[in-house]
Amino acid sequence: QLDSTQTRAKTLAGLGGKEGTVVLAEKQTSGRGRLNREWHSADGGLWFSILLRPAIQPSQVPQLPLIFSIAVADALEKTGAVTCKLKWPNDVWLAPKKPKSKFKKVCGILSEMSAESDKVNWLVTGIGINVNNKIPPALRKQAISLHEALGHKANRSELLVNLLERMEKTYEDFLKNGFNSLRKTYLHRSLLTGKRVTVTELTRTYTGIAESIAPDGSLLIRDKTHKLRAVLAGDITLSSSPLPVRRRGETGDDQGGGENQNPSNISHPPNTPAPNTPR
Ligand code: ATP
Ligand code: BTN
Repeated sequence: QLDSTQTRAKTLAGLGGKEGTVVLAEKQTSGRGRLNREWHSADGGLWFSILLRPAIQPSQVPQLPLIFSIAVADALEKTGAVTCKLKWPNDVWLAPKKPKSKFKKVCGILSEMSAESDKVNWLVTGIGINVNNKIPPALRKQAISLHEALGHKANRSELLVNLLERMEKTYEDFLKNGFNSLRKTYLHRSLLTGKRVTVTELTRTYTGIAESIAPDGSLLIRDKTHKLRAVLAGDITLSSSPLPVRRRGETGDDQGGGENQNPSNISHPPNTPAPNTPR
């Protein structure tokens, strides 16, 4: 049992820990997601963090949760009759392979790093997967376990070994060929593309249609004014409200205003302090 595998892996990173170090816990007492949001991590799940030291630019770091989510989806589908979709940027959603079953979140990925302007010192990627753990009632609408989707318990050691192998392969592919070489695979599994979404940034919220994923990994949203906006990080919810299409020239912002010109537009929910690490 640990407070958080993420915290432990970051301590090891600061002490010079080697690339590939994995910290795994049976249970976390203070598991967390982005912005210190609580991550429920009871017995029976797979909760681990990996220390990496990639020779990439800090601007490429947000691409890592994307490529690792592909590995998670492949490994989960290998366990049985389940289907996975990727919710940009850091979630894997799961449904049993039967008609009309609903996709819910089975896995979340958290990336934290130490970097200089042009160099990544270390990166810790935390992965939380609901395998055989019980989902608390408050999360049941949005979260699912692999056990629930399969209809029986899953073998966590087999899943972990398979996942680590896939993550290693995907990571090597990424280091050699870049995110663009994995982009099509990501798009193939994307939950959001073609759907109406709501984007919540620090100072505004807007709706639009998620159109694609850019070669740099950002989510491309066509807003009401038909403008294509690139979101590098943000809170994205599938939106059920109708999307009124305004004429060109009218503002597309529902709140706040002005176009976000910040090339590293790490966005945060309103009134939330910005984290000093990427998602
Ligand atoms: P979201 O899940 O809302 O798309 P996110 O993936 O970026 O956002 P965070 O903003 O990091 O997630 O916050 C973690 C979210 O995951 C919280 O909203 C919490 O309700 C939810 N959560 C916590 N524990 C679990 C779990 N074991 N399985 C699924 N979801 C969980
Ligand atoms: C998300 O919010 O979707 C990301 C959740 C990441 C949870 C994992 S579990 C292992 C590691 N330790 C933590 O405290 N968080 C990550």
